Amino acid sequence: MTDKATLTIGSEEYELDVFTGSENETCVDIQKLRAQSGIITMDQGFGNTGSCFSSITYVDGAKGILRYRGYPIEELAEKATFVETAYLILYGELPTEKQLLSFRQQIAEHAPIHTNLEHHFSGFPKSSPPMAILSAMLNLVSCFHPEVLDVHSEGPEFDRTAALLLSKVRTISAFSYRMAAGKPFNHPNPNLTYCGNFLHMMFSEPYQEYAASPVIERALKLFLVLHADHEQNCSTSTVRVVGSSRANLFSSVAAGVCALWGPLHGGANAAVIRMLSDIKTSGKSINFYLDKAKEKNSDYKLMGFGHRVYKNFDPRSIILKKRVYEVLDELKKDDPLLEIAIELEEKTLKDDYFKERNLYPNVDFYSGILLRAIGIPLDMYTVMFAIGRMPGWISNWRELLEHNQRISRPRQIYTGKNERKFVPLDER
Ligand code: CMC
Repeated sequence: MTDKATLTIGSEEYELDVFTGSENETCVDIQKLRAQSGIITMDQGFGNTGSCFSSITYVDGAKGILRYRGYPIEELAEKATFVETAYLILYGELPTEKQLLSFRQQIAEHAPIHTNLEHHFSGFPKSSPPMAILSAMLNLVSCFHPEVLDVHSEGPEFDRTAALLLSKVRTISAFSYRMAAGKPFNHPNPNLTYCGNFLHMMFSEPYQEYAASPVIERALKLFLVLHADHEQNCSTSTVRVVGSSRANLFSSVAAGVCALWGPLHGGANAAVIRMLSDIKTSGKSINFYLDKAKEKNSDYKLMGFGHRVYKNFDPRSIILKKRVYEVLDELKKDDPLLEIAIELEEKTLKDDYFKERNLYPNVDFYSGILLRAIGIPLDMYTVMFAIGRMPGWISNWRELLEHNQRISRPRQIYTGKNERKFVPLDER
């Protein structure tokens, strides 16, 4: 605690605590304000509300900085595997060789899913949205592993649960794709890497084992590392809100999947590709879409632009843009949507509307083009985001319990009718 703040309302003054984080971000603690004054604060969409103290991820939206546990995203993207990154996010330090080996073994061990759980896939219509399947199946996992319902598990039990979840989310996701495609499931192969195993479960065929090229495996690894955590975004906050009632980890992350699904959050990665395809096939100019997004009363937005926290470039989009070129080059592929994306970005950077509002490409703008290059089907894009975000969700859920955080329960200002008498049916 560094200071005190004074709030004056009418003739009353209230002294409030001020806290400063390790990167000097400052907050005024209003937790006791209501008890002292009967007054609440209003912040719809929580744009200026700190909901927790956290030591997992640091974002500086003005400078375009993102760090997991102090490590810059640029370095992790280049040097760390997804499993190493997940370990770092979960446990606060990069793993030693021995720790990494053991973590990998646990993930490999938990990759298969119970045959009865596997049977549940046949109950879904083929057209089911993969995010609906993922959320439902993550909840179902706990029915097959009742031990994970213990919210106070510590040490080796927690380690096991975390590895189990990181592993099952990958198998369930791949199986949901196979089910929708009417193809047999490919069981996990413990000898493959995290990414290689996912690609095998997605794309191996009975007549041909999928052999992932190192380019594709690296691209997928990069995608997952970049999505591994992003402090108190909508889905992570959802995981924390659900977890704050002491709901188990599986139901909390299943709720996180639902929050991620929306097009303003993780659903944006697929929405970007739909938007770019639409621009390509419509025959209309990019300016037409820019004007549409700028219209005062339209709810049309340029997908993949804007961010609650970044008021500068999203560092993840810079890394992705560079990598998209390299991957397409390495794979000797072209993507006409990339040209449209580049033109769209260039135009927005010169446009007053976007400049005044600090709207830059976010992580979802180029990630879809990377996923297209890897060969991931469009309706799986947000599922890919969910696989990547799992370490962040697990870690935030755990931190919430470690801090013994109070149940999330915001207040409201009531704007409805005042008290009135009940009107009997025959008088209405
Ligand atoms: N296109 C056109 N106008 C926009 C856009 C956009 N993509 N984003 C924001 N604006 C406008 C917005 O209408 C508002 O204008 P005005 O001041 O005239 O009312 C102004 O910019 C400020 O925006 P905001 O609505 O206050 O921003 P927010 O922090 O509430 O919302 C956002 C952030 C990401 C939901 C929003 O920018 C958006 O909808 N972007 C498109 C969807 C998207 O790409 N989502 C992915 C987010 S990043 C990764 C993730 O979280 O999954």
